[in-house]
Amino acid sequence: MNGLSNKHILLGVTGGIAAYKSPDLVRRLREAGADVRVVMSTGAKEFVTPLSFQATSGNPVHTDLLDEDAEAGMGHIELARWADAILIAPASANRIAALAQGFADDLLSTVCLASEAPLFIAPAMNRVMWSNAAVQSNIEKLQLLGATLLGPGSGDQACGETGSGRMLEPTELRDAMIGFLTSSTTAALSGKTVLITAGPTQEALDPVRYISNHSSGKMGFAIAQAAEQAGASVTLIAGPVEQTTPRNVNRLDVISAQDMHAAVMQHVDSADVFIGVAAVADYRASDAQENKIKKSDAEMTLTLARNPDILADVASLANKPFTVGFAAETQYVENYAREKLEKKKLDMIAANLVGKESGGFKSDTNSLFVLNKSGDEKTLTDAPKNEIARQLIELIAKSVS
Ligand code: PMT
Repeated sequence: MNGLSNKHILLGVTGGIAAYKSPDLVRRLREAGADVRVVMSTGAKEFVTPLSFQATSGNPVHTDLLDEDAEAGMGHIELARWADAILIAPASANRIAALAQGFADDLLSTVCLASEAPLFIAPAMNRVMWSNAAVQSNIEKLQLLGATLLGPGSGDQACGETGSGRMLEPTELRDAMIGFLTSSTTAALSGKTVLITAGPTQEALDPVRYISNHSSGKMGFAIAQAAEQAGASVTLIAGPVEQTTPRNVNRLDVISAQDMHAAVMQHVDSADVFIGVAAVADYRASDAQENKIKKSDAEMTLTLARNPDILADVASLANKPFTVGFAAETQYVENYAREKLEKKKLDMIAANLVGKESGGFKSDTNSLFVLNKSGDEKTLTDAPKNEIARQLIELIAKSVS
């Protein structure tokens, strides 16, 4: 594997138990051909020794801002200029806050401020810390400033809890770095306008209840970010989700399928590409009540009415954009994808398996079976959603260029 040949990666390691995985990350990056230099925070040295990184990177390890010897050799400005990319893994809540505020009080933060290299952040922290509003606001700010978020993943945590906040595995981080640094998508959608739907819709039954589904918006937001990074002008129409808006993306929030349909139809004329990632409710209550429905009988019957099919309506426009649909299936993924591609007259469809332990709804990773109307097919194998999004955008860009 040599996807990172001649790339200079500056790995920032901050204080957290996930730092024990960082020497392995150095090995994985080097196996892919990268030259790696490591900058450690004071906290990181409590978890791993500089010697581990010196041994795995084959380079001296940098720890101090005010070190005369270091500044005489590879000082902070040289490190900042040397890097093709800066990856901070693990990135602690404290480091994320410092970077969001622009602090320059240690070597790592100063190098980040002094560098024009793209910044990648792989957070690692307890799930409650990760969901804390202050951390989320700092992440949002960093993304607005141009940083790319890698993860975090979900699962068992060192603190004994389970949830979101785990650092992605070294091989996942390596693959994501290969994807971003060797991307043929850079500027591949330059000059194009991309309209994307994401998240679920909510269909009110009464003022307190609704019908919806498990979509978190992660896949659609990752695709919006990848399209923006490929140079497109992106409008993202989002159902009710708690996701950070990617940098430079124009986001419009909607609630119901009918709202989403109206917003799409308002923006589709100027779109070169439409990607329907939203899990749009197929039905709504025929007769949503103005007041809370009171319980009475042991059973109640709901009458539902079909919602408009946004994707099919876009695909049947006379001047339609390149139209990409998604298919969420619990079985026979490829067969149903072929049927939907033909039935809805799409240019491309991306199908995923849902309702299983990993992939699909809510998950941080996904796999897609992608098929276009000429019959070309490709499987994008299990990877973090932002990497899958980048690969999908690459396929779309090839079709519209
Ligand atoms: O949001 P995440 O938690 O990250 O999960 C991602 C995802 C599983 C939601 C996503 O990858 C996905 O599969 N999105 C499509 C979900 C879906 O509604 O699939 P479907 O097979 O029911 O619909 C087919 C296509 O028609 C989709 O492009 C959908 O956006 C579109 N559609 C469906 C119904 C409708 N009324 N209008 C539509 O536009």
